[in-house]
Parts: sequence; C-alpha cells; structure tokens
Amino acid sequence: MLEKIQETAAFLKARMHTHPETAIILGTGLGSLVHEITEKYEINYAEIPNFPVSTVEGHSGKLIFGKLGNKDIMAMQGRFHFYEGYSMKEVTFPVRVMRELGIKTLFVSNASGGTNPDFEIGDLMIITDHINFFPEHPLRGKNIDYGPRFPDMSEAYSKELIDKATEIAKEKGIKVQKGVYIGTQGPTFETPSEYKMFRILGADAVGMSTVPEVIVANHCGIKVFGMSVITDLGVEGKIVEVSHEEVQKAADEAQPRMTTIMKELINRS
Ligand code: HPA
Repeated sequence: MLEKIQETAAFLKARMHTHPETAIILGTGLGSLVHEITEKYEINYAEIPNFPVSTVEGHSGKLIFGKLGNKDIMAMQGRFHFYEGYSMKEVTFPVRVMRELGIKTLFVSNASGGTNPDFEIGDLMIITDHINFFPEHPLRGKNIDYGPRFPDMSEAYSKELIDKATEIAKEKGIKVQKGVYIGTQGPTFETPSEYKMFRILGADAVGMSTVPEVIVANHCGIKVFGMSVITDLGVEGKIVEVSHEEVQKAADEAQPRMTTIMKELINRS
C-alpha cells in the first residue's frame, strides 16, 4: 500500500512545477472554482499509476495543479464514492498521495440533505464535526505510519478555519449555517425514518461522501475545512421526493456563494 502511494507521488512530483501545501476536493457546489485556477497543469486520473479507475466512462476526473489567487494549489476534479463500489482504500488513496506531496491543508465540499429543522434548501453549512456512519472504516487494516494506530479526532475540522470562514461569510453578507455532517454509504436517499434517526444521532445534514477522506486526512496530519450545500430537507413535514437533478439544481444555485467563501478562505489561510 505504502509503496503504491509513494510510486504515485513520485510520478506526480516528476511532473509538478510547484509545491502546493493546499489541496481542494471539488465536490458538489465547488465545480466552478476550477475556472478560477490559473497557470493550470492537468493530469487525467486514467494516466496516474495506481489511481482508482473511474466507473463512469468519460468522467474519469483529473488532478489540477495551479494557482488560486496567489496560492499554489492542487485540486481533485472528481472524487471516488464508496457507493460506486470503490473500497475505502481506493476512496481515500488520493488523500494519502497528497500527504506524500506535502499537502498541509485540505478543503472539501459536498451536497447533503438537511436534518436540522432550521435549515432551508440552498443553505451553506460549515461542517463543524462529522459522524462516521459508513459500514467500513477507512483506517481498518495494517496501520500506515502516517499517523498513530488510534488517531485522535477531537478536532477533525480545523476550528481556526471554521472561525475564518465565519468571518469571511459575515464580511461578504453570505448566510451560513454550522453543523454536524453524517456520512452514510448511499446510494439511496433516506427514508423519513432514517432522516429522523440521523437527527436523533446528532446530525444536521446527511450525505454520501467526505467522511472517509477527512478521517484519512486527519490520520496524515492534514488540516481540514469542509462545507456542505443543503440540497433537500429530511425534516418531518418538509420531506418531498428527492432526485439527483433537484440536488444538482440546488447546488448550482448555491455554487457562487460557496465558491466566494472557499476562494477567500484559501487565500487567507
Ligand atoms: N441524503 C444523502 N445524501 C445526499 C442528500 C440526502 O438527502 N442530499 C444530497 N446528498
């Protein structure tokens, strides 16, 4: 495993012209941030040794190196979800490669269903913590020496970055919620009873990604900031049929606000 990670990192290092310490997973709501990256150098996942192979033809995704403002960054356009059939090792492989490349801070985004009754569709939520509800733990198996066997998770999402993002949102007049994201395997959206259960467990929003990558980033000593677009509501009395298209529509509408906050936060951190 470690050999594969190092082989992939060596392949990338030989092609990189910069030494970014900042990585971004361009999840739902952040797709358009890609247009703000300058001095781009892109590598398709399909060309990268040991990178998971995409299940969707023509959607293999790519790594992008470049500048956001005056900051060197690397970005993942396209992530790997557990529901697609990837193992947890595959889902989190790119994060371990990031560690080898010298990444210190990771920014992630996603779409989620709100379980907090105060939330509205289109809200942005700064993730303050998560609950791992995936059926397999990404760190299961032999420990890789990037971190301890039993990693601390008391500040999985950097308090400093949460505070900075809150300030930025205030300055820009953008409404943000804060809350706990519960990560579940999908691919079904939740039944009303499942939304209710997640609320009882302490979640403000539920989604199908992020948690594995964030756990592995923490294990590697990479700081994390995450933000979620609330694309539908799993709140009693407000539950309606959800489709991928509606999720996408709500995310597209929220995208400019999410992009503004993330871009500014990355520049200030
Ligand atoms: N549940 C799980 N994942 C999601 C949801 C949801 O309601 N909305 C967007 N991603």
